[in-house]
Amino acid sequence: MRQAPGSPGRPPQPEADVIDARPQAPPAKQQGLPAQDVIRINRLRKVFAPGTAGELVALDDINCAIREGDFVSIVGPSGCGKSTLLRILAGLLDYSDGAVTMDDQPVQGTRRDVGVVFQSSILLPWRTVLDNVMLPAEVLGLDIAAARRRARDLLAMVRLDGFENRLPGELSGGMQQRASIARALLHDPRILLMDEPFGALDAMTREQMNMELQRIWAESRKTIVLITHSIPEAVFLGDVVLVMTARPGTLARMIPVDLPRPRTMASMSTPEFGARTQEIRALFNHAGAFD
Ligand SMILES: Nc1ncnc2c1ncn2[C@@H]1O[C@H](COP(=O)(O)OP(=O)(O)OP(=O)(O)O)[C@@H](O)[C@H]1O
Ligand SMILES: [Mg+2]
Repeated sequence: MRQAPGSPGRPPQPEADVIDARPQAPPAKQQGLPAQDVIRINRLRKVFAPGTAGELVALDDINCAIREGDFVSIVGPSGCGKSTLLRILAGLLDYSDGAVTMDDQPVQGTRRDVGVVFQSSILLPWRTVLDNVMLPAEVLGLDIAAARRRARDLLAMVRLDGFENRLPGELSGGMQQRASIARALLHDPRILLMDEPFGALDAMTREQMNMELQRIWAESRKTIVLITHSIPEAVFLGDVVLVMTARPGTLARMIPVDLPRPRTMASMSTPEFGARTQEIRALFNHAGAFD
């Protein structure tokens, strides 16, 4: 299935001539004002190895807008370009065509107000857990004493207190991933991009992390983009779920989730939760949508 340009979600809007529109005040949503678009993706296309025998169209004609303070989940078949999309949003990967803006500025390289959690936890094996979480403080030149206190708080939040001085190799995969989440939050980024952060966790820890992430989001009103293979997780956490097609990845549908916040385990037995998860499953199962 391919959407006409601009059809998923709100249509892309013309780019403004604003150089830095980053709000100094709390996000509009927190003040009861209509939320602004913070990320706009317009006719995005990504081709790997163009013009060679190995040319591969990973993303094609992606259009969407993400509002400040929204929690956006992305689901789609393996290999459909989710990580590619996230890396483009993070400024880590060039795109071939179209436009991607944050606060009306083209995304060109990494940004200080964006935090990223990758699909596999990329921790430096020779540094302790605490020193790994402290990495952004060193790179960004933050106050080290304050950052160290925050790092310890974040490690406690992801239930890694007591493991601060261990090396990553001494941690389970799930624990390493939790350390990566703490690291991504260290510099208190306004936008958090997460690529299947909970994939390696057991079911119970995953549920706890979902609740924890919802709490972090609710308290900080960050804009969060979460890639997940779990449809229930996408619906549980998301204000909206973007469903992607198989390669080349396009947006099949943008599904709003109208469940009251804060969501609890009981939210999962509501008719709205059932309807939205079924709607997404149907898109996955409907061969035409992913051909
Ligand atoms: N650096 C690269 N060079 C060439 N092709 C790439 C590169 N990175 C990704 N691809 C290709 O782009 C497509 C999308 O990959 P991507 O990792 O974005 O998928 P995904 O949706 O994240 O998959 P998964 O759910 O398995 O993580 C795949 O066909 C992959 O082979
Ligand atoms: Mg991926």
